[in-house]
Amino acid sequence: MGAGHARYITDSVDGAVVTAFFDLDAARMDALAKELSAKSGATINLHSSVDALVNDPTVDAVIICSPDGLHPEHLELCVKAKKPTLCEKPLAPRLEDAKKIAEIVKASGVPVALGFMRRFDPGYVQMKKEIQSGKYGEVIQIRAVSRNVSSPGATTAGMISNSAVHEFDIARWLLEEEFTTVSVAYAKKTSHANPDIQDAISILAHTESGVLMTVDNCANSTYGYDVRVEVLMQNGSLALNNLGDLTISFDFDLPARKSGRLHDNWIGRFTDAYIGELRAWVASIKDGVVNPNLATVDDGIAASIACEKGIASL
Ligand SMILES: NC(=O)c1ccc[n+]([C@@H]2O[C@H](COP(=O)([O-])OP(=O)(O)OC[C@H]3O[C@@H](n4cnc5c(N)ncnc54)[C@H](O)[C@@H]3O)[C@@H](O)[C@H]2O)c1
Repeated sequence: MGAGHARYITDSVDGAVVTAFFDLDAARMDALAKELSAKSGATINLHSSVDALVNDPTVDAVIICSPDGLHPEHLELCVKAKKPTLCEKPLAPRLEDAKKIAEIVKASGVPVALGFMRRFDPGYVQMKKEIQSGKYGEVIQIRAVSRNVSSPGATTAGMISNSAVHEFDIARWLLEEEFTTVSVAYAKKTSHANPDIQDAISILAHTESGVLMTVDNCANSTYGYDVRVEVLMQNGSLALNNLGDLTISFDFDLPARKSGRLHDNWIGRFTDAYIGELRAWVASIKDGVVNPNLATVDDGIAASIACEKGIASL
């Protein structure tokens, strides 16, 4: 994900340039630095600690793409150095840690955004417009599918805190309400997963107003990156399909959907969303005007509250 963000900044975001990296994998860092400085002409400093990176005078802002459990520690170092930060989701894998780091971030006053990029995906943006248009009545149910091709390090709790956290965030953003109950049901285990994890699962969640959301989550689908959602409304069904096209079933019309090859992973499916998110984040730092679609630490806490309820039901 870090390489993805660095490439998007270099190729598609005006007003920002990559000037430094830190990763434990020195060879990976070196290869990416060579690739990107050849394009941008900028020198990219390679560091051996987060502390050194955040105190590099060429660094005005930081993107954290380390593994989930390191986000609180790395975020604390960024805000101590007063560097505006985009931290990949989740705020932390467990709610208790998310709350602690949220307090530190808020006390620092340093702007921090979270990487819930679906808020910038053209399909989800269009879906929100359709929901709010009033044409289809109220939302009554959400049926989401989220399947990764392969997730060697996944855990059952991680399928919720690392993966389904996206569904909680985007549903909160679409509906503008919170989740009150979350439970998890197990499917038969796929033989493609480590036998210690319960892959696949279905998550059942209710919002304050009674909308039911189900999320079919699979960490090792093998057949392709398959992320889609149907929002059932009183008078129609909005479907954001596998390849990102939004189709609406209304008045007995069933529109054609995009067909073709599934993506390997999130990078291909959500390219526009990552670029939109990065442009909004860079603009918010340069102009000091926060884009309301950028996820905040409060959004991170709200998503973590929902995830924690799901984890408690395992
Ligand atoms: N928003 C999204 O759509 C999205 C998609 C994928 C991943 N993510 C998030 O991005 C983060 C990274 O995920 P990934 O898939 O790129 O994982 P990854 O394992 O491919 O990459 C993690 C990188 O962190 C480095 N690293 C490990 N420990 C470190 C440390 N102590 N200090 C510095 N670097 C360290 C590793 O060497 C590796 O290069 C995770 O938090 C994940 O949840 C978000």
